[in-house]
Amino acid sequence: MSHEVFNRVAEAYDAARPGYPEGLYDALSTLSSISLAGATVVDVGAGTGISTRGLLSRGARVVAVDPGERMLARLVARTASAGVVVGDGNALPLRSGVADMVCYAQAWHWLRPEESFKEALRVVRPGGAVAAWWNSVDLGTTASTSAADWLVAYEVRLAETCPGYWGPALPHWSIPPVAAVMTDEGLEVREAWIPWTRDVSVDEFLLDLRSHSFVASLDDGAVERLLRRERTQLLKVFADGELTVPMRVYLAIARKADG
Ligand SMILES: C[S@@+](CC[C@H](N)C(=O)[O-])C[C@H]1O[C@@H](n2cnc3c(N)ncnc32)[C@H](O)[C@@H]1O
Repeated sequence: MSHEVFNRVAEAYDAARPGYPEGLYDALSTLSSISLAGATVVDVGAGTGISTRGLLSRGARVVAVDPGERMLARLVARTASAGVVVGDGNALPLRSGVADMVCYAQAWHWLRPEESFKEALRVVRPGGAVAAWWNSVDLGTTASTSAADWLVAYEVRLAETCPGYWGPALPHWSIPPVAAVMTDEGLEVREAWIPWTRDVSVDEFLLDLRSHSFVASLDDGAVERLLRRERTQLLKVFADGELTVPMRVYLAIARKADG
C-alpha cells in the first residue's frame, strides 16, 4: 500500500517537511469563493497534519483522513482540534454532501485518480469545492524566477541516485494531472502558482530529504551514503549551514455545481 512508505518515515516527515505559504490558503478562498472560516473541510491524505493545521489556523473545521496510522499518530499528538479518521480516500467513510471543501495536500497522486475524485465530489455539498495542491522546489521554470544553480545540481544528483525519483529534474516530469480529471468531470478548473521562499538549515533540509518516498524506498546503507554526500555538497555552497530554497505551490480547485 502506498501509505506504508510514509509510516516508515513519519518522524522525519513531521519534524522537517515544510508548511504551505499563507498565499495558498488565501487562494483556496479566493478561487472557490468559499471562506475557510467556519467551513467543514475534509483533508484527504492528511498525514502528520501540515495541511490540517494550516486549514485550522484559518478557522476551518477539519476532518483529517489517512490510512497511515503512524502518520496520523503524529497529527493527533499536536493537532487537538482536528477530527481524525483512519480511512482510504478512494472510498471515504463519510456521508454524501457533508463537506464544504475536500482537499488533497501533496496527496492526490497517491490515490486512484478518477475514483478518488468521484469520492471527493460525492462528499462535498452542492456548490462546495475540491482542491489539490503540491509544494515543490522551483527550478526557475516560471517566468518570474531564475534557476538557483545549486538547487538544479541537487535535484539532478537525486534523479541520478534514486530510482524512484519523480521531480522537476526529469524532462518528462509534470504536476499530477488533477486539472484534467476535474475537466473530465465537467467542472471549471481554476489554477494558481504561488511562489515562496523557504529558509531552512542544512540539517533540517536533509531530514526532510529522508522523508521523501524515493529516499525512503532505498536500503538503509544507500540512504546514509546519500545523506552524507548531500551534506558535503550543500555545505560547499552554504558554509554557514543555512539554505534559502526557492519554492512554489501549484493549486487546482473546482466547484461542484449548485443543487
Ligand atoms: C505526501 S503525504 C501528504 C501529507 C499532508 N497532506 C501534507 O501536506 O504534508 C501523502 C499522504 O497520503 C496518504 N495516502 C496514501 N494513500 C492514501 C489513500 N488511499 N487515501 C488517503 N490517503 C492516502 C499517505 O499516508 C500520506 O500521509
